[in-house]
Amino acid sequence: MSSSVSLEDIVSLCKRRGFVFQSSEIYGGLAGFYDYGPLGVELVNNLKQAWWTAMVREHDNVFGVDGAIIQNPKLWEASGHIAGFTDPLVDCKNCGARHRADHLAGTDSTDLNELKELLKDKTCPTCGKKTLMEPRRYNMMMKTWVGPVEDESAVAYLRPETAGSIFTNYENVRETMRAKVPFGIAQIGKAFRNEISPRDFIFRVRELEQMEMQYFINPDMQQEAYESWREFAWSFLTERLGIKPENLQWHEHDEKERAHYAAAAHDIYFKFPQGFKELWGTHNRTDFDLSNHARVSGKDLSYFDESTRERFIPYVIESSVGVGRMLMTVLTDAYTVDEINGEQRVVLKLRPALAPYRAAVSPLLKNKPELVAKAQEVYAALKKTFGNVMWDDNGNIGKRYRRQDEIGTPYCVTVDFQTLEDDTVTVRDRDTAQQTRVKLTELPLQLV
Ligand code: GAP
Repeated sequence: MSSSVSLEDIVSLCKRRGFVFQSSEIYGGLAGFYDYGPLGVELVNNLKQAWWTAMVREHDNVFGVDGAIIQNPKLWEASGHIAGFTDPLVDCKNCGARHRADHLAGTDSTDLNELKELLKDKTCPTCGKKTLMEPRRYNMMMKTWVGPVEDESAVAYLRPETAGSIFTNYENVRETMRAKVPFGIAQIGKAFRNEISPRDFIFRVRELEQMEMQYFINPDMQQEAYESWREFAWSFLTERLGIKPENLQWHEHDEKERAHYAAAAHDIYFKFPQGFKELWGTHNRTDFDLSNHARVSGKDLSYFDESTRERFIPYVIESSVGVGRMLMTVLTDAYTVDEINGEQRVVLKLRPALAPYRAAVSPLLKNKPELVAKAQEVYAALKKTFGNVMWDDNGNIGKRYRRQDEIGTPYCVTVDFQTLEDDTVTVRDRDTAQQTRVKLTELPLQLV
């Protein structure tokens, strides 16, 4: 059994089986943009549902919102993104290519002086010449115009993180939900970043989706809340999604790596095909956001705690993870190559609740009308119960199993001649390839 998987394996599986396609592929695509295919959208929806359940539905004091992608630009001025949401960039004087300075220097630091030193002897990866200029900052906000006039007064930004409209809705949610600090606001939605070098398939893209939660607290409990949301992220990945703990590790940001709003940051790194990289961040944003929004908007965003008679600006502990990175994580972690009866197969060992299809139903032979009719009956009943059930009568039964293994379908249900006599079917387990005979009346329970 093999557990190491290359980026090419993942890209090829995604394309071949309809998980992820290059966006506008027939026009040659657009760097940093991808579309989810029929299986990808199912898996992504299952991941988002799992996160929403654990984050919102299972916490009495975490509420959901779904904010607009475009907000009043003052929000991004207050949040510091217009001035400080930058990556270090380095231009090549010879060929004009632009590179992420920190990636080229092989460091997590974004300090310009340090980068200048590290890049001193480097050559441009595009033309091979030693003609790199001094690194500089580059703002990643995507701009647009709102309304018919394309001038400076109409400039707006596609949000670079979903957190923005969580902060601006802090008072709305607190009031409407009669929430008391500590409480959280969660959101799943698209964000946009004009990344200098989108790369590694859906790992670093320009249009991404985030699952974020801001937890508003009394500053006194910052350490405790920070630790508990770190623990939440780890146990969600290992227990809910079944990610192998040996494929995860903690990474603490030092001062030079932290975002402009963060006083502390711990990422969970996952062992992606290209190495251990950031998957999920927990950040202590202090009162940075609410203080700045109060200052720029002129609205009082302080909180009065009735029980302690204290007034304070809440601190925020943030939990933030990308949907695309989570998809890549579960695909990489689940991708397994093993041998069944001397034959190699690729199998996606996804948790049943995450798999795009819960089961596939097949007639043993597709040219026997009585088998097809019975299999259709079984298919209709299972579809009613689970929704995501596939009809599969393509190719021989062995080929069907291989195909279903590759897309992670946990169970294959086959209707054969014995079914017509005793109302039993065979259920094949994806991971063990074992087949068992199950009564139709007991079938739904077997697939849970
Ligand atoms: N609100 C905090 C925030 O946005 P971040 O570390 O910049 O923090 C959070 O992003 C998460 O979003 C990352 O841990 C990663 O999972 C995902 N993410 C960030 N930039 C991304 C990109 N360009 N492509 C794909 N996912 C990205």
